[in-house]
Amino acid sequence: MTTVQERILELKKKKNAVILAHNYTSPEIQDLADFVGDSLGLSKQAAATDADIIVFCGVSFMGETAKILSPTKMVLLPEPEAKCAMASMCSAQQIEQMKRKYPDATVVGYVNTTAETKTAVDYCCTSANALNVVNAVPNNQIIFVPDVNLGRYVKEKSGKDIILWNGFCPVHQCVTIRQVEALQKQHPEAEVVAHPECRLEVLNIAKFIGSTEAILNYCVASDKQEFIVLTESGMGHRLQKACPGKKFYFTNESLCMTMKMISPESVLECLENETGEIFLDPDEQEDAFVPVKRMTDILG
Ligand code: 13P
Ligand code: SF4
Repeated sequence: MTTVQERILELKKKKNAVILAHNYTSPEIQDLADFVGDSLGLSKQAAATDADIIVFCGVSFMGETAKILSPTKMVLLPEPEAKCAMASMCSAQQIEQMKRKYPDATVVGYVNTTAETKTAVDYCCTSANALNVVNAVPNNQIIFVPDVNLGRYVKEKSGKDIILWNGFCPVHQCVTIRQVEALQKQHPEAEVVAHPECRLEVLNIAKFIGSTEAILNYCVASDKQEFIVLTESGMGHRLQKACPGKKFYFTNESLCMTMKMISPESVLECLENETGEIFLDPDEQEDAFVPVKRMTDILG
């Protein structure tokens, strides 16, 4: 009997498809993907692939970003209703209102926004390059949407006049200093590494702050053997695979449930029947491409 995984591999070959998966997806999804990474790495893969079909195992804004970068490809979401809670905290209309209040400001939008929201943004950024993008913007006054925590972090590091939005990621917002201190008591040798979506007071006790991929690279290169990892616990699978001898500890509440909606069965169904295809309005596609292109131009 062929397993779900075997059937996926067969179909992938037959249809010239590529499977991209975010670091927060469940272990079985990561293990069947062609590429696993952070938002920036996945966007690069989506832009560079010569596959005809991209199966995007992640929340919907990630698939939309792939479609913005690769408009001629078929981009399929195994679970189209897997949305990012933060992305729903900021619309294009709300940004237009804010721009009326600060007409001279430049809008930098975190990639965790819908394609519609990206149409109202001047520059896009990910957690891996937010500081580079903000520093490269030729304006001191910046409206940063939607993540208040990443915005605060970038404000502190860049010293720019950053007008904050009130969005947040429920997973990272829940991480408290008390939880971190309790873990430190249990694992006194462990080093604290954090994603910049955590609140600033939490980031202030971290030894390293970076995107999910940057956290992975840091832990691989470090001489340390134990880490308290302040991000979604799906990262544990990648970290453990990359550093078999090292130990990683997470706070209990760190689960992005929409990322966990994606299963091998939903990947198979979408590849088989070509369901969950992303269609963007051509004008929206064109307008949303502008800030994403500006980001990739800054990266060189
Ligand atoms: P990364 O780009 O660092 O993987 O982050 C994406 C995300 O949604 C974090 O919550
Ligand atoms: Fe969105 Fe938070 Fe999930 Fe990342 S972890 S996809 S920011 S809800």
